[in-house]
This record gives sequence, C-alpha cells and structure tokens, in this order.
Amino acid sequence: MKLVKPTSLLVVLLIFATLPSIAAPPRDDIERRIDALLARMTLEEKLGQLQILDGEANGNYRPEHLEMIRKGLLGSTLNVRGAKRTNELQHIAVEQSRLKIPVLFGFDVIHGYRTIFPISLGESASWDPAAVERSASIAAAESAASGVRWTFAPMVDIARDPRWGRISEGAGEDPYLGAVMAGARVRGFQGKDYSAPDKIVACAKHWVAYGAAEGGRDYNTTDVSERALRETYFPPFKAALDAGVGTFMSAFNDLNGVPTSANPFTLTTVLRREWKFDGFVVSDYESIKELINHGLAANEAEAARAALSAGVDMEMVSRLYKEYAPQLIREGKLSKANIDEAVRRILRIKFRLGLFERPYTEEAREQATIMSHANVEAAREVAARSIVLLKNERDVLPISKGIHSIAVIGPLADDQQDMIGSWSGDGRKEDAVTLLAGIKQKLSPSTQITYAKGCEIEGGASDGIDEAVRIARDADVAIIAVGESAAMTGEAASRASLDLPGRQLEMVKAIVATGRPTAVVLMNGRPLTINWLAENAPAILESWFAGIQGGNAIADVLFGDVNPGGKLPVTFPRVVGQVPLYYNHKNTGRPPDPNNKYTSKYLDALVTPLFPFGFGLSYTRFRLTDLRLGASIIRPDGRVTVTVDVENTGDRLGDEVVQLYIRHIAASVTRPVKELKGFERITLKPGEKKRVTFTLAREHLGFYNRDMRFVVEPGELKVFVGANSVDGLEASFRVVE
Ligand code: NOJ
Repeated sequence: MKLVKPTSLLVVLLIFATLPSIAAPPRDDIERRIDALLARMTLEEKLGQLQILDGEANGNYRPEHLEMIRKGLLGSTLNVRGAKRTNELQHIAVEQSRLKIPVLFGFDVIHGYRTIFPISLGESASWDPAAVERSASIAAAESAASGVRWTFAPMVDIARDPRWGRISEGAGEDPYLGAVMAGARVRGFQGKDYSAPDKIVACAKHWVAYGAAEGGRDYNTTDVSERALRETYFPPFKAALDAGVGTFMSAFNDLNGVPTSANPFTLTTVLRREWKFDGFVVSDYESIKELINHGLAANEAEAARAALSAGVDMEMVSRLYKEYAPQLIREGKLSKANIDEAVRRILRIKFRLGLFERPYTEEAREQATIMSHANVEAAREVAARSIVLLKNERDVLPISKGIHSIAVIGPLADDQQDMIGSWSGDGRKEDAVTLLAGIKQKLSPSTQITYAKGCEIEGGASDGIDEAVRIARDADVAIIAVGESAAMTGEAASRASLDLPGRQLEMVKAIVATGRPTAVVLMNGRPLTINWLAENAPAILESWFAGIQGGNAIADVLFGDVNPGGKLPVTFPRVVGQVPLYYNHKNTGRPPDPNNKYTSKYLDALVTPLFPFGFGLSYTRFRLTDLRLGASIIRPDGRVTVTVDVENTGDRLGDEVVQLYIRHIAASVTRPVKELKGFERITLKPGEKKRVTFTLAREHLGFYNRDMRFVVEPGELKVFVGANSVDGLEASFRVVE
C-alpha cells in the first residue's frame, strides 16, 4: 500500500482550504459567456470543440495534440491522464490558444480510477446503492486529482443475454435495479455540483439498447419495440438524467433500422425534447464513421451530416465533422445553428465543471489522493458486500481460522491481472491482492497453506491437475478459484458458451472427488452455466472480478469476518440455449406445464434458471413474516404502503436484501409476471427483528398503455415480498377509478 507523505497531505489540505469548493459560474452567466465565445469563434475552432481524440494507451498525449490544441482545434481527449500530462496540455489550451478554452480530459473510469473496485455487475450484486455511490465518489476524487474530469460511465445498458461480454460493465438485467444503481453512480461521480475539485462529470452510456445485441454478439443489430425501449432500456438512463448526468454517449448498434449514433428519435425526440437534456452527447469510438458500414450513409460526408443533425454533438476519434462540416454547410445540408448548438452544449459542461476558473490539477493532490489508505479500505469493504453465496451445504463456510491446513487451488487463485477485471482504468496489477495473498494475510502461521494452479483458465494442458488433487487430499479444506479471464469479459468479448472454459471443470471434479470439504470461488464477468458445481460442489461463492482488494475481501467472507449478503443482479441459466432468460418476462398464453406438451418450454432443458435473479444466501437465516398492505383499494393517483417483518433466526450478524415485486393481473397491455419495485439491504443481529416499509406510488404502478402514455390503470395487483425473485409472501390490492 502506498504511504502518504505528511508533507503532501499538508499541501492537499492547504490546496483544498484555499480553493473555493465550487468553481462554476451561475447558470445565466454561463449562457452569456457561451454567447460571447460563439460570437468570436471561427468555424474551425467550433469544430475543434466537437472533436475528441485518443491519447496513447499508457496515458500520454500524442504529439499532434499539442499543435491542435494550440490552434484551438481540439476540445477534448480520451485516455490522456495524470496531473503532469493533463496540466501540460491544459497550459497550452488556456495560455497559448486564441480563445483560451480549456480541454476536457475524458477516460473510462468504470469501477475505479487507480483504486479498482469490483466490476459494475459485481457492485450491483451488493444491492447497496450507498456502497456503489461511495465507490464512484472515490473513483471521481482520484480521477479529478489526475486531471481527468470526465468519465465515460456509468454504463447503464440493461443486458439479458450473458453471452454479451459487456454485461459485466452494467447493473444486470433489471430496469429498476439498473435505475437505482445508475442514480447512485451518477451521484457518486458528480456529487451535488461537479465543479467541486474532487468531482467529475458522468456519461450515461450507451444510448441506447446496446445490450439487446442479437445473439449476444457485441456491436450487433438491435430491434426493440418502443414499449421495450421505454419500459426496459430507458429507465436507467432516465434515472441518470434525474440525478443530473452531464453527458450521454451514443452507441454502436443499429436500432430498428436507424443506428443509435444517428437516431433522431432517441437523440432528439426523447433525450432533448421529452427529457429536456441540456448537456452534450458524445459518439462512441468511431461510431459515426461506422454509419457507412451500417449502410445508413454512402460516404463520410453523409455520415457526418446524419450524426450531427440527429443530435450527436461530439465525435470520438473519427474526424468527419472537422473534415466535412464546412462543405455540408456550403451545400446547405447542415445549418450553422446546428453546429452552434452542439458547441454550446459542450461549452456548457466545460463551464459547469468550473474548467474555465480552475483548469489545472495539482500533482501533490494527485499523489495524496490516489490509492490512499481510506480508498483502498473502501475497495475491500465494497468488494465484500458484492460477494454472493450461491451454495453452502453442511455449512462448509465459513472456515475456522484455526484450521490446520488449507489448499488454495486454481488458475485464478494467485492471479493479479484478472482479479481487477476489464475496463480497469489506471489500475495496476501490482496493486491487486490475490486470493492466495488474502488468505495468507488472514491466517496465522500455524495454518499450513499450500497452493497449486492446477490448470490454465483457457487451454487444454492438464498436467497440473494431479498436483492440485494431491495438495487437496493432504489439506483439511480446499478453496478453488475458477472462472474467466478478465479479457473474456467486457467489450468485444462475447461468448457462445457459458461454461467454465478450459480444463477447469475437470480439475474441480477431480478435487471434489477427493471428498475433502471444498469451496469454489468464482471470478467471472457474466452468469456461467455451472450445473455440475451447483449439484456437487459443497460451497460456491460468486466474487465477480472483485478489484484490487478482492483477495482480502474474499478471505473476509471465507473465514467469516464478513457474512455475505449480496444477491444476483442477473439470472444464471442452466444452459446457454435458455438465453435470454430473465425473471420479469411475460407469461405467454401457454405457461410451462410439465403435464402438457403444448406449453411453452424446451424438450431438452428446463425453463427455470439455475439461480434466479435476486438470489443469494447468508451464513445466518432470515424469516419474513406479517406482510401487510396499508390499503386494499386505492385510486390511480394513490399510494400503498407495504410492510413486512424480517427476523434473523440464525446465530450470526447478517444482511438480508428484502425485495418487493408486483404483478398486474390484467391490463390493456400484457405485463411481466413480476417486476421489482423496491428493495432494502438491512443488517440484523442474531434474534433481531425489523419492520421494513416500502411505498408503492404512481411511478411504480404505472406503465405505458397502447398509446404509449404512462398511466395507472384500474385492476388487481399482486404484491410479492421475498429474499429473491422466486420465493416470498404474497398479498394483493385493487386500483379503482
Ligand atoms: C468504446 C466503448 O464502447 C465505450 O464504452 C468507451 O467509453 C469508449 N470506447 C472509449 O474508450
């Protein structure tokens, strides 16, 4: 861990003490200052503001950036980071360019800047928005200190297809959970006012329905009804907007025949007109140029025109705006007002960030903030809250710290790189505590710890399996870390199989066959088809990719210092052929019936999941009783309170996530069999009982009717309260006009 020198800490305290915390000018002033700038800008300078270019992978800028910035022809970069480098470029922009417009430095700060937290899917498994907000807030402070004031996050794409590698970057399959997590992440990144020196502006991406890629193949076509857009894919974006998100990123996918980076319905009708979004939209990486491959544009000029006129303000990496806008204006195919509006939106965010008032960061602050003791501790706590206990037969877990010997096995058990996951910002593998290291730190020297890799994550070599079996046989307990590599998840990492890759399952089988108590620790970025494990491994912990403190956090859970309380934010299927499999599906006219062939099911697989959405166990037990509704009949604008008692009936302190679902029995349009509408993660001591209260109101009870109007219709509703999406208590009430 990095020690903070007292002198640098003092410098930081002094810096914060002397800086006004809020730098942005008042909103009216901002518009006046934009007017003044626009009046002075040449067309070339305006187009410079609409451009974002990529730095080098190591965080450096490219030599070409210096000249472009000096001439006012580049408004933003991505991947350039670090106080020294960003200050160098900023110095040129603010002191040497004609109009002194500061550069906006963007970066994919997805689950941490340098202090890497669990992947976003893992964080969502905490069902703890406060933990997620804290993680984003720490990421923001580190990022801002390094000069990066813009993150391309949160990724809020709903994903119901685990073949899609990017399911790891979002909050899972559910629009309600996704919306809560989107709001938490935006609040964490931006705070109340993102001009504060430790805050950054967020970017809701990828607008929109990118997660619906056909076949789970990345970048693939999507065809999604307006109803599904509004009910499933939009809500997390709307929640980000309601939390004040400053920017959106248009996506790569074709949506109903009009690619999302040139789609006037999503970019203008919904985003600007309905939702009144006044920040800016950045394209995804070359997604404007890709309009040619999509077949929406015959050439580069047409691609530029389609994207800009649909509402994409800033172009990432391709340079078509710069290249073709002057000609398009001359030909009357693009208006000057269109360009001015895009520039205005970008400058507005630069002003709101306080970049004009405070363009630089301080190297001393960067040094003191990044990987501070508090940040690293937080990463450990959030990681522990993200872990989901999937199985624990005969209480194999937690393991006693007094155990005599333990075998730590598997290709991911001592792997620093994969533990931090994909999109790991400025994270370094050297910072990561592996599971083996975490276990060693946890136990006293009187426990004998042996380690064998056993096999690779992928690939056929099996010569290490015998050694793994040998050390398992000699130990009191075996811990096996298996799963995916980080590179098998994230962008361009779709898989057609959801099985454990390589020889890993073969190795686990051999170890379980020894009969030693065994716990499997999964590290992965998507639901996996782990039927054999679910049936035969005594214990399974889902740890996702838990970040730099993953090894410590998993050890905290394995040895009982933390009682796991995470829940799945996504359904685990039994076989890939069931995909897409999600809890809030429609009922069909012929719901599955084992006694009737002509019902909706498979000949060769069950229709039920292996582990349902919302599922997760604990080392203690909980009982839910006394479900009560505050009313049995309400008006469409009325509210219903829902209360339930939750009791810890076991013998350990633990967390339960109480989940509230509803179902409309009949309506003018069909409704899902269950929809999550509330949840709360609570901590209870052994024997303790708490009453949990939810309120159902218009926003929970309404849906889009046949005219696409959001209404609460009369009718009967069922209410389910439980510890996952399958089991629970039931009640019902009616809405009457
Ligand atoms: C492409 C990815 O789709 C997007 O999520 C990311 O923000 C950009 N590249 C920039 O790295």
